Amino acid sequence: MRMYTENFLALFKLNAKIAPVTTTEQIPAPSKAADPKVAQIPLPLRPGLTILGVDEDQPGVPPPLRLFIAFNHRIMPQADDTACWTDSRAYEAWLQRYGRLLPEAEVVWEDIESDAALWRWATHGMCAQGLERAGEGAAPDEVDGFVLRNEFMADYEVRAPFERFGGDAWFDATGKPTRIHLHGKDIRPGEPGWERAKFVVRSSSAVWAAIVDHFAEAHFTICNQAVLASAQHLPPTHPLRRVIKPFLFHTPGANGATPLLLFPEWGLLHRTFPFTWAGFQHLLKDAFAPRPMVNFVDDLRRKRVHPEQAPGVDLAFFTEGTAWWEILEKFSHAIVRDSEGFNGYADDPAVKAWWGALGPDMTAGRTLADGLADVLGQLFCTATAFHAQAQNAGTYLRDPAFFSARLVPGINRANKEALHALCTLFCSAGLPTPMITGDLARHMPDAGSKAAALALKADIDALDLAMSARNSARRWPYRLLEPHRVALSITV
Ligand SMILES: [Fe+2]
Repeated sequence: MRMYTENFLALFKLNAKIAPVTTTEQIPAPSKAADPKVAQIPLPLRPGLTILGVDEDQPGVPPPLRLFIAFNHRIMPQADDTACWTDSRAYEAWLQRYGRLLPEAEVVWEDIESDAALWRWATHGMCAQGLERAGEGAAPDEVDGFVLRNEFMADYEVRAPFERFGGDAWFDATGKPTRIHLHGKDIRPGEPGWERAKFVVRSSSAVWAAIVDHFAEAHFTICNQAVLASAQHLPPTHPLRRVIKPFLFHTPGANGATPLLLFPEWGLLHRTFPFTWAGFQHLLKDAFAPRPMVNFVDDLRRKRVHPEQAPGVDLAFFTEGTAWWEILEKFSHAIVRDSEGFNGYADDPAVKAWWGALGPDMTAGRTLADGLADVLGQLFCTATAFHAQAQNAGTYLRDPAFFSARLVPGINRANKEALHALCTLFCSAGLPTPMITGDLARHMPDAGSKAAALALKADIDALDLAMSARNSARRWPYRLLEPHRVALSITV
């Protein structure tokens, strides 16, 4: 497998050289005419799901490269080596070669294996969006507590000799771990198997976040649907297309190679993770199951983890994510209300066609007239803050004690091959990309939308200060959503 990933690493380095746009200011204006029959690539993970086959700013994957990718999947050996990174100094030496391609580590976690760090993982880690208030199955001391559910992942079949994922981690109302329900049994702090159970929880939740929250939700559902609908129905000068363009920059390029690169049998995801082909198909079927899009804060309220519903408990990602949602929702409402180009939008045939093409999941429970600002707010939030949270594995890939993409029975360290493959998968996430702190106003189509973008810039500056103050008071600073770390679109 090593040669397989080395080949792709070389490919990503090459891509880094030929993708020249690195700042918000350099994002080109929309250029390609709207075309309802625009080239699309089927993504055979859900009936009718296609991704935009052309990126108006960059050439697609050339045929020889397509051949190389397919050849790499088919020819390179896959032996499922079980060696793990048990020597952290050896891992540091390995990182010297690959670390510069990864997103930077935003903060040091010195005690990842402690019980307290399990709560930190559940509220700060890349899986933090999965935390919910304890409900069904809670013990008396957990009724006002929280749960991070992964036990359902035990259903996904894995290749021998790897261990299945799983583990529901339960916490009391103060965030103290009470037990882990793993593979049908409760294990409590200090009991035999407790350390192993924590490692399984961290590993399972990281795998779910990487495949489902990051790829399925952010890349292929919300951003993909929005950019595909806009290529189909909005002319390049249309105000709606111009407003959303910076948030969708390079989305077709980032997504376009994935049917070829990520999802085939013995493709990058199948090899990186331990699932059998049937187990992987099972997981993807669940990941891409149709579900109505709920906006960020309504989802938190439904799970009873909105910061207002958890006074005295620092749910760091939910606190900072809500702060981002509020300013991005304010921006989307200002656009819809104040942009001259949006006058009469509910009767604009192009906007109506765009809305229809978003599909029932994205528009569920909304009409165009009263739901456009909400859908745009959720799109902006997903492409920026949510993606920054779910994809930034830079910290966790730098220490093999965090998790493993494949569980080797009895070992609480990352599998070498799997970590090498994960670094390949995430290496392009460390490349320069347009950021939300850049000059967004220059891309807006009229006076009203430019004013909204300038107001957003002021809100981001204020958020930066407020977040710094909150982080100074935190036991563990949460830095993933600091404005200078938040990209403008899912370019990688
Ligand atoms: Fe991404």
